[in-house]
Amino acid sequence: MESDTSRNIVVGVAGGIAAYKACHLVRNFTEHGDRVRVVPTSAALNFVGAATFEALSGQPVSTTVFDAVDEVAHVRIGQEADGIVIAPATADLIARIASGRADDLLSATVLVATCPIVVASAMHTEMWLNPATQANVATLRSRGIVVLEPAHGRLTGKDSGAGRLLEPEQIASLSREVFNGSTLPHTWSGKKVLITAGGTQENLDPVRYLGNRSSGQQGFALAEIAAQRGAEVSIIAANTDRLPTPAGAKITSVRSARDMLSAVIEQAPQQDIIIMAAAVADYRPHYEADMKLKKGKDDSALGTLALTENPDILRHVVKMRDQGSLNPEAVIVGFAAETGDEHHSAEELAVAKLARKGCDLLMCNEVGEGKVFGQPLNSGVLLLRGEDPAAPVRRTITQGSKLSVAIQILDAIDGLGHCQN
Ligand code: C5P
Repeated sequence: MESDTSRNIVVGVAGGIAAYKACHLVRNFTEHGDRVRVVPTSAALNFVGAATFEALSGQPVSTTVFDAVDEVAHVRIGQEADGIVIAPATADLIARIASGRADDLLSATVLVATCPIVVASAMHTEMWLNPATQANVATLRSRGIVVLEPAHGRLTGKDSGAGRLLEPEQIASLSREVFNGSTLPHTWSGKKVLITAGGTQENLDPVRYLGNRSSGQQGFALAEIAAQRGAEVSIIAANTDRLPTPAGAKITSVRSARDMLSAVIEQAPQQDIIIMAAAVADYRPHYEADMKLKKGKDDSALGTLALTENPDILRHVVKMRDQGSLNPEAVIVGFAAETGDEHHSAEELAVAKLARKGCDLLMCNEVGEGKVFGQPLNSGVLLLRGEDPAAPVRRTITQGSKLSVAIQILDAIDGLGHCQN
């Protein structure tokens, strides 16, 4: 996919075993039409050779300020950059940036740059959690550098925990949002966020089901941004595409609406923010056959498929809050995938739905052939319940990637006031 305007992107690479993932990151940017300059530390070249980075970027690679002195590379690269992303960033590099060092080409480039900078760290959990590193990360953030929360999972060797490098496509897509102007504020540390994602499947027999086209991308994008704001994120995922796990998120996999309801009932009481982005089947087959329905033999059952209404999970969660079994301050967000009908626009139907469901915000998007489900872009209108449920406050969600839509929705939640630290 080509971006609207191609940009000068610097990919900084520090000396960690995850340096190999930087190759995919470089590829990702060049495939979007960006010009990429790779600036590794000398330690990074112990893991990936300069020739690989030169071939992938089509640009020369240097680690020191003493190469290309006539071109004044140590300031020119930083001055010309539209965005810098460092992946992986080690504890040592983060410390050097925090103390304003300029003892190699990468740190000098960062010191010169005035463009958005993203730092994706990779290190052992102990190093990441060490107060020295955390203080350095806080310093970088206070200067407007976006330090991404690392993934949790397998690290080099046998151990596993926080400190794993995010997947290259996660780093690239988050970086693009930052290069487009998002600051990804780290304001939700200590907050607990529950997100439902994907589409439920309702069994008809052991091989067939009633389902829908939801891929789970929007729910995962919301989880990604909530995690990058520092929240503790739980996702209840129904039949989602193979999507990378947002940093530190816990995933509970479910299949049907009733499975989802049980998981939500169990996890909702601990949450500060609950976002129901899943497409839940309103009905399920009344009878679920134990054995595969046979052509010829069971035709009568297939001809008149009896359905039973599923529980409305969003309504249930609102009731739980009304009855005092949730945090009374919990913010509840619903989604309305509407097509509109002969009498009402999609938005009019969503206004009625907000009042009916009783949630605090409702994200309304128009769906239909080729729109939203499984597509990279989304847009719509966010309705915020005010004094009069029939006249909610309306905020346009401008068209963009699902991450961009997630950023706009989470910013609106912040705007409610009682959610900010
Ligand atoms: O009623 P409708 O399906 O249009 O409502 C959409 C919103 O309600 C979404 O937030 C969805 O996750 C939620 N929902 C639910 N349980 C259902 C149906 C929808 O929680 N049975």
